[in-house]
Amino acid sequence: MPKKTKKEIVRSPKGMHDMLVGDIRYLERITDTAKEISEFYGFLPIETPHLENAELFLRPLGEMSDVVEKQMYTFRTKGGDLLALRPEATAQIIRAYNEDGMSSWPHPVKLYYNGSFFRHENPQRGRFREFRQFGLESLGETDPVTDAIVIKILYLTLHELGFENIMMHVNSLGDKECRPYYKKELTNYYKKKFNYLCKDCKRRLKENPLRLLDCKEETCIELKTKAPQMIEHLCEGCKTHFKGVLEFLDEAQIPYMLDNYLVRGFDYYSRTVFEIFMENPEPTAPAKEKKDVNKENNNTNNNSASGDKSAPIAIALGGGGRYDELMALLGGKILPAVGGAFGLERIIFEMKRLGLSPKKIAQPRVFLIQIGPAAKKRSFRLMEEMHEEGIPCGESLSRDNLKAQLNIAAKIGARLALIIGQKEAMEGSIIIRNMDEGTQEVVMQNRLIEKIKAGLKK
Ligand code: HAM
Repeated sequence: MPKKTKKEIVRSPKGMHDMLVGDIRYLERITDTAKEISEFYGFLPIETPHLENAELFLRPLGEMSDVVEKQMYTFRTKGGDLLALRPEATAQIIRAYNEDGMSSWPHPVKLYYNGSFFRHENPQRGRFREFRQFGLESLGETDPVTDAIVIKILYLTLHELGFENIMMHVNSLGDKECRPYYKKELTNYYKKKFNYLCKDCKRRLKENPLRLLDCKEETCIELKTKAPQMIEHLCEGCKTHFKGVLEFLDEAQIPYMLDNYLVRGFDYYSRTVFEIFMENPEPTAPAKEKKDVNKENNNTNNNSASGDKSAPIAIALGGGGRYDELMALLGGKILPAVGGAFGLERIIFEMKRLGLSPKKIAQPRVFLIQIGPAAKKRSFRLMEEMHEEGIPCGESLSRDNLKAQLNIAAKIGARLALIIGQKEAMEGSIIIRNMDEGTQEVVMQNRLIEKIKAGLKK
């Protein structure tokens, strides 16, 4: 007889996880808060596809960026098209601006989104291959106040969720006027240190020396500390713009620090860039790790947004910046724009660690109990009436035992139990039991809603 092979249970792909109700209640609180604040500031919702033509991301993100080089999920369709699972949304929003005729909308066009993104990263705490972002993009405006509004909305969302000690790391990358000079300086500096650079950076130096400032290799991090800084090479226009952004952040009392080597992972940024960190990531974390924002990759493994309460170090909760040249990179006319996004799993993780509350869903205060086939049928109909009347009502229609159902009603803390037995089903009545007082009365169906409302008010 052929040997029976044991079938393995199929598991989710590495770095991708289900999100269950516990985490979803956190997710809902974050996105409800972010949406409310975004809409207050005039941002409108947009949904974009999970799949795009891969070329949408290649040039804008930078062919030398980690995301394009190593992390993008691409595949060829049967028709021969090269598609990519979206690694981020900003390039998509620019595509949508062109494709959906947003140039005729009042400017700035302000959009927000929320959804899954995909990067083939090494999964560890705060890094997944499928992760969720809430993001904002403001298109068509150069005024520094637009940069500050985006930062403010992200900050206010965290503040309203209960986060304290948020720190915005900010920098300016200059524009196409002044950045080439800075790049030259940077190249000269790194050329002298060439032998100490990691393999990737040796290669990156030719294409885009800014990428070296974003390298997570220990030796490259050390070399960075003495590298020239963009802030000293800003042209007058960029200097004035950056000063304007900082003044608005001061005005809104948003805590920020200048992070002179902050470059972000994509090539499309110019002028303002920012990342959002917590000041005191973890009281029990080793002191040396506390402020080292470059050590994101050294965390312990953890494949879910929940879990490890002794989470060690600061990881960026969000990031963004200005991308005035992105439209041109995609072949369009110049369109100044700025935006930013949160990593939702990272915020959920921190909310749990800090004991911040998720979205509260009120338990139904009425519970429907039925005994016998006729009562079950009547209850099946009655649930719809309760729904139409807007009275949240629990049920356990698949159970027949009175005691078991009463136990559930007590467990969820129901105030009133509606009991329908065979007799009540026949005569069209219902027993309303006050669970706290243990009293009960029989009412006819036509007075049921009125009686429930009065009972709940008591
Ligand atoms: P990003 O910095 O690549 O920027 O991502 C924004 C946030 O998403 C990060 O700060 C982090 O919280 C979260 N995130 C990124 N990768 C992962 C991952 N593998 N696992 C879990 N969370 C992750 C952008 O995506 C830009 N599109 C933001 C932007 C909008 N810039 C301008 N407008």
